Amino acid sequence: MSEKKYNVAVVGATGAVGQNIVKYLEEQPFPIGQLSLLSSKRSAGKKVTFHNKEITIEEATESSFNSIDIAFFSAGGAISEKLVPSAVKSGAVVIDNTSAYRMDEEVPLVVPEVNPEDLHKHKGIIANPNCSTIQMVAALKPIQEKYGLNRIIVSTYQAVSGAGLAAQDELVAQTKQYLNDEEMEANILPAGGDKRHYPIAFNALPQIDVFDDNDYTKEELKMINETKKIMHAPDMKVAATCVRLPVFSSHAESVYVEVEGNPTVDQFKATIADGKGLILEDDPATQTYPTPLSSEGKKEVFVGRIRQDLDVNNGFHLWIVSDNLVKGAAWNTVQIGQSLVEQKII
Ligand SMILES: NC(=O)c1ccc[n+]([C@@H]2O[C@H](COP(=O)([O-])OP(=O)(O)OC[C@H]3O[C@@H](n4cnc5c(N)ncnc54)[C@H](OP(=O)(O)O)[C@@H]3O)[C@@H](O)[C@H]2O)c1
Repeated sequence: MSEKKYNVAVVGATGAVGQNIVKYLEEQPFPIGQLSLLSSKRSAGKKVTFHNKEITIEEATESSFNSIDIAFFSAGGAISEKLVPSAVKSGAVVIDNTSAYRMDEEVPLVVPEVNPEDLHKHKGIIANPNCSTIQMVAALKPIQEKYGLNRIIVSTYQAVSGAGLAAQDELVAQTKQYLNDEEMEANILPAGGDKRHYPIAFNALPQIDVFDDNDYTKEELKMINETKKIMHAPDMKVAATCVRLPVFSSHAESVYVEVEGNPTVDQFKATIADGKGLILEDDPATQTYPTPLSSEGKKEVFVGRIRQDLDVNNGFHLWIVSDNLVKGAAWNTVQIGQSLVEQKII
């Protein structure tokens, strides 16, 4: 890391993702001069301890970025649309966790293990991909590099923390209601902005985010479109079905891929085991495979249950698990910041 220090802002610092960004900024050797922690009016005035100093949370406004070099945004798409332009105008480089700018052609969409070179093209904004996309492309990048990748079909098993702190609270409340024989109250899932809400406790909801005109959900379209952009593979065939489960943290994914070459299953596993930020946990004889609980709080992407398809020679099945608030959000965001500093792009 360079000796230069950077003034850093975290917008949405009190949220599920923002709290983890602050945690990793404290844990990592990140060269921070001043740190501004920003939220809505609701949390302004609260105190957070960072490197043994108390920082007061402030309300995020257009003028919050005057002396900021790097601004991490994680307060929802509408806030990013409103405040990111002011941050960029003030000279900050923005790393945005929301979907507001991800598919903008001018904005690099980056997973540092997959496409760090794209950071050089930034014009003030870098987007952090969707959580379920990050773990999938991180696991598949070494396969794409070594064997070529034609097709991906993914079904997700996603945690409620992907829908923010309020969704986690709702799962707790509904679990208590169900066990007390009371009616479960549903106000948030499957999608805060949609008309109907269903209980998530003891349930599985085949809807994450709202539906698009083509009957895919926005989460499914994010996985499809973001994967093609990050992997620089506009012609790759990608299909996704996204499902929410009553799990607090870590998304799991059942993924089927078709490769161009003809690797053996052992070669396929060895390629994953050698991949950056990946951990292979795959031994049916000892029932070894990753689960949401075993990956919670960890920075890596875990892969198991690798099998060659029984009918399609170049088809393989994988089970990919990672903590959506860590590698799926805060850790990937902080890694982007570290990579900017290390590559001297800021
Ligand atoms: N959770 C995930 O797995 C995940 C993964 C990748 C990306 N993301 C994205 O990251 C963003 C935040 O998600 P989250 O799960 O952390 O949500 P969250 O737990 O609901 O937190 C929202 C944060 O935004 C702040 N905020 C709300 N309204 C604001 C306003 N008007 N001005 C400034 N700050 C405001 C909140 O501050 P108060 O405390 O004042 O309310 C809080 O700090 C979303 O866009 C989400 O899509 C989430």
